[in-house]
Amino acid sequence: MIKMTTEQAIEKSKKWCLHGWGFIPIAVDSAKGAVFKDLNGKEYLDFLSQTAGVLGIGHTHPKMVAYVKEQLEKIQHVLTGFVIPPRAEFGEKLAAVAPPPLTNNCMMYIACGGSEANETALKMAMLITGKKEVISQYHAYHGGTLALMGLLAQAPHRKGFLRYPGFHNIPATPYCYRCYQGKKYPDCDHECARQLEYHLKWGVEEDSVAAFIQEPITGNGGHMGPNDNNHEKEPDKVYHKIIRETCDKYNVLYISDEVQCGMGRMGKNWGCMVYDMKPDIFTTAKALGGGLPVSAAVIRKDLVPEKMKEAQWHIFTMGGSPITMAAGIAALEVLVEENLAEKAKRQGERIYKVIKEWENTHKIVGEVRGEGLFIGIELVKDKKTKEKAIDAAGAVFSKCLEKGLLLGVSAVGGWGNVLKLKPPLAIPDDQADKGIAIIEEAIKEVEAKM
Ligand SMILES: Cc1ncc(COP(=O)(O)O)c(C=O)c1O
Repeated sequence: MIKMTTEQAIEKSKKWCLHGWGFIPIAVDSAKGAVFKDLNGKEYLDFLSQTAGVLGIGHTHPKMVAYVKEQLEKIQHVLTGFVIPPRAEFGEKLAAVAPPPLTNNCMMYIACGGSEANETALKMAMLITGKKEVISQYHAYHGGTLALMGLLAQAPHRKGFLRYPGFHNIPATPYCYRCYQGKKYPDCDHECARQLEYHLKWGVEEDSVAAFIQEPITGNGGHMGPNDNNHEKEPDKVYHKIIRETCDKYNVLYISDEVQCGMGRMGKNWGCMVYDMKPDIFTTAKALGGGLPVSAAVIRKDLVPEKMKEAQWHIFTMGGSPITMAAGIAALEVLVEENLAEKAKRQGERIYKVIKEWENTHKIVGEVRGEGLFIGIELVKDKKTKEKAIDAAGAVFSKCLEKGLLLGVSAVGGWGNVLKLKPPLAIPDDQADKGIAIIEEAIKEVEAKM
């Protein structure tokens, strides 16, 4: 095994590796549950599950370790055209938990990352409808490939690249804290949802749009979404009803990007289920492999053309490999057997109850919002003007790391002022409480200097 000191690891990493995300000079060594350790033995509470929720089942879950070890000793890669039992089993398990109307009524292409799943979903939509254009939302994030970057409206890392032709944006999900029209619910009459029809009518060539793709909550964009943690209420369900009806009216396929929101994180297996939204296709990754690269574009069975079932139409070499499928099976079994969605709902409500109060007790906390263990804390310099406190969010992030806690900060779409909380879904109460206390302490220290 590789042995290095922290200094050696940092030096070699700086010399050879490009850290596209940004560079954090902490050398991570090992982990268990909701805690990871650096090479110096310092422990950190993982309130992000590493990359935006990947470790939903927690670090080094025993089932994951056992399944992967067992599979690795048998075979590690197979030509994707062959049949392998772990892929067949994974497909059946994912179909069983898929959101309605796809539950046990779907087919899927299995890949490695969220970007691959979304690229696949868009190709599916284009091949099936014969149309080539796609609509997404401002502040969305669907992946880092050249084409998917065209689904973002603006983001620092989009600069310098052409927008993929035929990709368009409409305003983000209901984000009542900063309504882009300055309206208030319910007087707004769900103007944000109606933008989809407006755009389909006037913004594109008639009947040219294959799909509308949307995250249930805009994750990287800043946990934009409804303004409390009860999405089952209006305006969110109505918003999604309007979107679904519009897609049906204009023969546009609806893709739910569940890469961040799915696998129990929002208190149901999939984010779309929180709103009773019925997707035609959904994409999933991150937590799906419990830390190993597994993703899928899952489509309603009746939409799948015969030629897609066996002919060659799409290839990612490493998708659905025996080892990653063993990991995917473990993650899906843990999701179901350990009732992770329910745990996320319960723990999310516990945490939310405490930190929603921060809107009243902390001058820089503008809004706390979320669903399940998908929680955002929007920091502002002034509660009246709502000027974004981007530097403060960065400072809270750094202070939390010093104090032994990792959380996220929104980074895409110009909204770097939202703290993002996504701990493992079965995080015990004492660790959850300790984490909240650290975050509050960091907020206090930062606001004292403002
Ligand atoms: C909603 C969403 N979709 C897609 C992706 C892209 O996934 P990946 O980085 O695995 O390609 C991400 C990554 O953050 C995401 O949050």
